[in-house]
Amino acid sequence: MSSRWPVTACSVAPYEIRVCEPLLAEGNRALTEYGHVPGRRFVILDSAVAPSWQDRLLSYFRAHGIQPTFMVVPGGEQCKNLETVGAIIHRLRQFGLDRRNEPVILVGGGAVLDTGGFAASIYRRGVPFIRVPTTLLAYVDASVGIKTGVNVGTAKNLVGAFHPPALVLLDREFFSSLSPRDIASGLGEILKLGLGCDEDLFDMLDAAADTFATTRLRDAAGFTILARSIEVMLDELRPNIFERELCRRVDLGHTFSQAFEMSSLADPLLHGEAVALDLNLSALISVRRGLLSEKESARLANLTDELGLPGVPPAMQPPAVWDSLTERTQHRAGRQRAPLPLRIGECTSVDDLREDEVVDAFRELAARTTAAATADSATRPPRQAAAARLKHVEERP
Ligand SMILES: NC(=O)c1ccc[n+]([C@@H]2O[C@H](COP(=O)([O-])OP(=O)(O)OC[C@H]3O[C@@H](n4cnc5c(N)ncnc54)[C@H](O)[C@@H]3O)[C@@H](O)[C@H]2O)c1
Repeated sequence: MSSRWPVTACSVAPYEIRVCEPLLAEGNRALTEYGHVPGRRFVILDSAVAPSWQDRLLSYFRAHGIQPTFMVVPGGEQCKNLETVGAIIHRLRQFGLDRRNEPVILVGGGAVLDTGGFAASIYRRGVPFIRVPTTLLAYVDASVGIKTGVNVGTAKNLVGAFHPPALVLLDREFFSSLSPRDIASGLGEILKLGLGCDEDLFDMLDAAADTFATTRLRDAAGFTILARSIEVMLDELRPNIFERELCRRVDLGHTFSQAFEMSSLADPLLHGEAVALDLNLSALISVRRGLLSEKESARLANLTDELGLPGVPPAMQPPAVWDSLTERTQHRAGRQRAPLPLRIGECTSVDDLREDEVVDAFRELAARTTAAATADSATRPPRQAAAARLKHVEERP
């Protein structure tokens, strides 16, 4: 005897991404109106954000009759592991979080949002959470989709879940305390969207490149660029939110980037910095294949430099780049599915990259870095030279 019971199980939940400036104004209820448990909230806060923002958050919540319980976690990749997830779960249990009606509030960079989001996705099989991104990269990228996750050993994002946030609240005021390097890193992800998906966005970035040091995208042009970035990102994510299709234009810049972010490097690059290098490497491969013009590749290289993004770290060896592609191939179900730019605003996906062409293109990129460093009158390493262009402008709230 046999019996069959077909079941359709799908998990979809609507959520909203909302610009909400100034988020912490007394009259702004956005951060408190979701949830039905009165008088308290659990807030996970990035340690780099806490010095400037914890007191303001406290005053804001108190003004709304809420006593927040803060858990400050180390910002950046050092928090993105299963130990932090365990610590968060322990604290949620102590707090006695209401499983349905009390959103966990995450305030921080992409690493804290990914880690806190993953904890929320597994605690009692999933509790609601609100993202408040505090870096540029998290604003345009890590906050937008439904992915959460942590690293295991040197494997980035090895463990994770699709768990949509209840709400994403955006406020550019948080950018005021970011380092110039973090601003540049976020610009790297916007550059990816421009190169791979939207020529207008690339042009906007190009036109405003020399303003970001002072404006930190907090002016009208910055607003337009950020809104456009989120729209382009959502156009890519919406039809493929669970990544059933593994050829994704938003994966441009994420084929070789892990090699540049490797923790084994003495000074690993930030995520967006590594993405920008991957874009340039991919562009050089495209030029060698006759897919992209040299002029457009050079335009990309110039803009990368203008945005304050670094060249190839001196310690990087070509095999690491090929290893990164091999790892991505495994992640992409056995096919390379490597996005390559066709022109500014458009890319394709290929499965037949050869090790020799990747290594040759990498050597060309590394040589370009060396040439730029030599030409730099101050003879500073390219990363410092580029970062120096992005003066740190103190704009405390
Ligand atoms: N889930 C996704 O879809 C997705 C997408 C893209 C990236 N990511 C992940 O996001 C992470 C990168 O995010 P990121 O670029 O925000 O870096 P990050 O979270 O590592 O933050 C960078 C640094 O800035 C600090 N910081 C955060 N906000 C600050 C502020 N307002 N002022 C001063 N310092 C501040 C952090 O403590 C950290 O030291 C990576 O782990 C990446 O894998 C996730």
